[in-house]
Parts: sequence; C-alpha cells; structure tokens
Amino acid sequence: MTKEDDSTPGFSTLCIHAGQEPEPVTGAVSVPIFQTSTYVQEAFGKPRGGYEYARTKNPTRLALEELLAALEGGATGHAFASGMAATTTLMLSLVKAGDHVLVSRNTYGGTYRLFSKILANFGVAFDDVDTTDLAAVRASLTPATRMLFAETPANPMMEISDLAGLAGVTRDASARIGAKVRLVVDNTFATPYFQRPLALGADVVVHSTTKYLNGHSDSVGGAVVCADAEDGAKIGFAQNAAGAILSPFDSFLVTRGIKTLPVRMRAHDANGRAVAVWLAKQPKVKRVIYPGLREHPGHALAARQMSGFGGMSSFELGSLDAAKRLLDRVRICALAESLGGVESLISHPASMTHASVEPEERVRRGITPGLVRVSIGIEDLADILADLEGALDAV
Ligand SMILES: Cc1ncc(COP(=O)(O)O)c(C=O)c1O
Repeated sequence: MTKEDDSTPGFSTLCIHAGQEPEPVTGAVSVPIFQTSTYVQEAFGKPRGGYEYARTKNPTRLALEELLAALEGGATGHAFASGMAATTTLMLSLVKAGDHVLVSRNTYGGTYRLFSKILANFGVAFDDVDTTDLAAVRASLTPATRMLFAETPANPMMEISDLAGLAGVTRDASARIGAKVRLVVDNTFATPYFQRPLALGADVVVHSTTKYLNGHSDSVGGAVVCADAEDGAKIGFAQNAAGAILSPFDSFLVTRGIKTLPVRMRAHDANGRAVAVWLAKQPKVKRVIYPGLREHPGHALAARQMSGFGGMSSFELGSLDAAKRLLDRVRICALAESLGGVESLISHPASMTHASVEPEERVRRGITPGLVRVSIGIEDLADILADLEGALDAV
C-alpha cells in the first residue's frame, strides 16, 4: 500500500513508527517489555502517566494498540490474549440479551463455536448468512439486528464478501431500525496491508494477531480496532473489566512482527499465487480455491477490494484417504493448525480447524473430508513446490 497523501506516512512507515516513540529514559528504539504488574505512584492519588495497574494499562501493550489503530485507520486499538478473547470482549461490549447478530456462514470454526455454544446461552440470537449475497443479508435482518459479523476472505473456502456493499446494508438498516447496526470484520486473513475494512465503511475490525500480524508462529493474541472512539471506550472498559489482555512479552513480539508485515505479505502473496497456479495444473487436485485465480467466484471483487490475494488457499483431493496420504508425506509444509506464519502450514479443516462445526453444517459449508488448507509461507518457492509434488505422488 502506498502513501495516501503527502501528510500521511506510508503503510510501511506506520508499521515501523506508529506508537513507537523512543523510550523516554534511555532512548531505546524498540519499545521495552514492561514486565510489571503494578506501578509506584508519585504521591497519594497521583499515579504516573495514568499507570496504576497493568491489566488496565501497560506501555508495551499500549504501543501495540496505537500501532494497530494506525494500521487499520481506526480511532482506538485494543490487544487481547487471543483472537477469541478479542471477539469475546467485543461481543460483551457491543451486544446484549435480546439482540440479533448475523454472521458470515463460513466464519472460523472457533467463532462459530463461541457464538452458537456460549453466547447464544446469554440471550443473544445468532443467524448464519451468506455474506457474499447482499440480498440474502438484507433479507435476514430483523428489527432486533445490531451486528453483522463478516469474515472475508472466509476460512477455509476463501469466500469474498463485498465490504462496501455490506456497510451500505448496515447503514440503511441502522436508519430504518433507528438503532446502530454495526458491521464487524474479521480481517485476520488479509491484514490491513491488503484490506482496510474501516475505510470501506465497517465499524469494527477484529484480528487473530496469532496469524499474519505477528507472523512468526510464536505468539497467540488478538485485537479489536474501532472506527468510533465511543465504541473503543466500551471495548477498553470491557478489556479492563474482563481482563483478557495481551501480555507485555506477546505485545513486544506482535509489535516486532508488524515491522516486517509489508515485506512478509508481499512474499506470502507471490508464493501463494504461484502455488495456486501450480496446484490447479495437478491432475490429482480436483479443485483449487484461491481468490487470485480467475475461476474463483470472488476473484473480481477480491481484485477490487484487496491489494493482494495473500498466501491462503484450499484444495480438494476427493477423499479423506487422499488428504491423509498427502498430509502424512509433507516435510517443508508443517502439518499444523494455524496460519500466517513465515513457515508453510498445512491442515485438514474437517478434522482440525473446523472440527467444532457439526458434520452436517460442515458439508453445507463445503468443508469436505478431502479438503486440504495451506498457508503458504515465505520459504523458497521451489522447495514448497517440490514438497507438495512429493506429497501428491503419495496420493
Ligand atoms: C479468521 C480467524 N479469526 C479468529 C481466529 C481465532 O484466533 P485465536 O486462535 O488467536 O484465538 C482464528 C484462528 O484460527 C482465525 O483463523
């Protein structure tokens, strides 16, 4: 992403400098890990710089939170102990009993589990909707709808939803219902380097920083960024009240990871495109699902809405047996949950990331026993292709 105008620093500059003032005592260029639970007060009722207790405020976390807000173009950023902690705190803050929430039908399995198995018990009603179909979203709104939770690209079928279109739907619905219907976007797959939901009209962005933002598969974390400072204050209140904060060390790791986000994302994108094109030519691969391929139903929209397609793709091998054979043979691609690390990660959605989705629901979502998902890393392309070629020989 390039500079927007002369007064706005470019995205890569923000990644390195936003929220990253040199530390005032020593001038340390990287924000130190403030590994403390509390802070000595200057005098009775006089905390230094508003620092009283580390659940409420920590300088290492604050630096990351300011960085996240800058990258997404939001008013506020808050960092959490995991992506699911971020989503939980978001829901505790912005919906209440009696509200209705619409959710992308192919959202991450853990999000589906949180909504359907836990939050539904607290009087919030959830309905799945195909967010690639604006008419279907409009038709699913009720007078009680207060949130549309969309994931795009959606995991693992890489469905692309029109964010500006969805923002139009929630804006119209808010005016008609007479209450705010927020558009929340899980931007984990694209990252703000490739997609800026708030600029397209969304109200809130959530992330699993575990994935591309940290990028090195060595931290679990999450984030919420709000366009509106009042929403942000509610998230901050609930972050402190519920306490699912990101630790100082993890905050340091994510901040460090983000410094190289643009170069990593370009490398993931280049390898991701090349692997998808190669997979599409393999006779044993029945179908490749990658938004950068012309035949992907969301290709034109992805090309318009995102500035890159990234490193995530899924492919169909036709049977559980074929998927097992491939997954037992890979060496460079690590057979593991998660995604977005510098190393290539390969997984079986039906038994791993989406095991918490009921079998009939999985089939409805297209998550078949033969589906394999791959998060293409930034190793040498030739090594990734040789690894997949060797594994396909075993199929
Ligand atoms: C798109 C997406 N959102 C949210 C999450 C949850 O994040 P975490 O595992 O950090 O709790 C994941 C995890 O895989 C994910 O893929």
